[in-house]
Amino acid sequence: MKLLTVVGARPQFVKAAAVSRVLRKQHREILVHTGQHYDRNMSQIFFDELHIPTPDYNLGVGSGSHAKQTASMLVGIEDILLMEKPDAVLVYGDTNSTLAAALAASKILIPVVHVEAGLRSYNFAMPEEQNRVLTDHISRVLFAPTGTAVENLAKEGITHGVYDVGDVMADAVFYYIKEEAKNPEALFRNLDVLYGSLSGIDAYYLATIHRAENTDVDEKLWQVLDAFEALDHPVLFPIHPRTRRAALARLEEKQLKNTVLVAPVGYREMLTLTQHAVKVVTDSGGLQKEAYLLKTPCITVRPQTEWVETLNGGHNVLVPPEKDAIVEAVLHQHVDEQNHPDYYGKGEAGLKITEILSQKGVLQ
Ligand code: UD1
Repeated sequence: MKLLTVVGARPQFVKAAAVSRVLRKQHREILVHTGQHYDRNMSQIFFDELHIPTPDYNLGVGSGSHAKQTASMLVGIEDILLMEKPDAVLVYGDTNSTLAAALAASKILIPVVHVEAGLRSYNFAMPEEQNRVLTDHISRVLFAPTGTAVENLAKEGITHGVYDVGDVMADAVFYYIKEEAKNPEALFRNLDVLYGSLSGIDAYYLATIHRAENTDVDEKLWQVLDAFEALDHPVLFPIHPRTRRAALARLEEKQLKNTVLVAPVGYREMLTLTQHAVKVVTDSGGLQKEAYLLKTPCITVRPQTEWVETLNGGHNVLVPPEKDAIVEAVLHQHVDEQNHPDYYGKGEAGLKITEILSQKGVLQ
């Protein structure tokens, strides 16, 4: 079978790597990179580290408004699909690259396979929620990471072609996690420090904040940074280009003392940093779950989460982007360590996906 995979943004490189590793043993895969993420440490570093083959096509769409970015992906992907005529198109998650690929394929009647289907925040103001809902409704095969995701799809009338296979990001965590580098100095050695200093740190919180809803309103980002400044351990903050741009103008004026800004880090480095952090503070979807899998408590700066299971037992708590709420949650989170079920599978999602796609008639 000839499958065409479309990736474009950082988390998709990780998810696709987990599936491709197995898929390529049995099927031919054409890899398309939309170019949504293009900085070396947002893109190429993942290809190198996770041994992802060089994409067969790179559309180089880069940044732009939602319409411009999605439109240029649509045009570029359609051209490739008409040339390559794959049996199906594989898309991952909820980014603009996901929706563009699904829409381009669906319109010319190429079956769409959505990996990480059925997640919902029920907040339709998020571009990610729009992307995932629309993608699910035009997909032929839907690989759901959890039972909750299967139920979410059923509520929208989607029951055909749905498979609960576990989470591909759990595959990646179990495959790539290393127990090395326990002392902070070893962990920090390769970090590119942009602001502040790592010297003398022996315990740290790990933070990432990049969602448009938190970065594109100045006041919210400053509330988050004010919270970091008030915590009892330094906050290590690998900063996404979107956040960096939003913060840059006022960083000097802010004079951060407890927050250390570093350039975005690779996947393996991030896993190790997560595993050894006191806690994680984030608005990322994937990092909440990686923290859960690595048993590091997490505080999520968002009103909802798609990964609702992480909230059980207090492993993850949701807080608004307000200084006092964040500080309170970080300092007083109660985690029930005994209550840590295996919600996300045992790291076999890629294998199950390959087996199901190999069955006759699944794409019909
Ligand atoms: C995208 C996804 C989001 C995902 C995130 C992971 C959408 C709508 N959002 O958000 O769900 O969690 O990726 O990182 O698809 N930029 C650079 N260099 C890069 C990439 C981006 O400078 O390599 C800057 C650009 O100025 C761009 C901004 O960051 O305008 C935002 O990038 P974009 O890809 O539009 O969305 P993300 O915020 O990364």
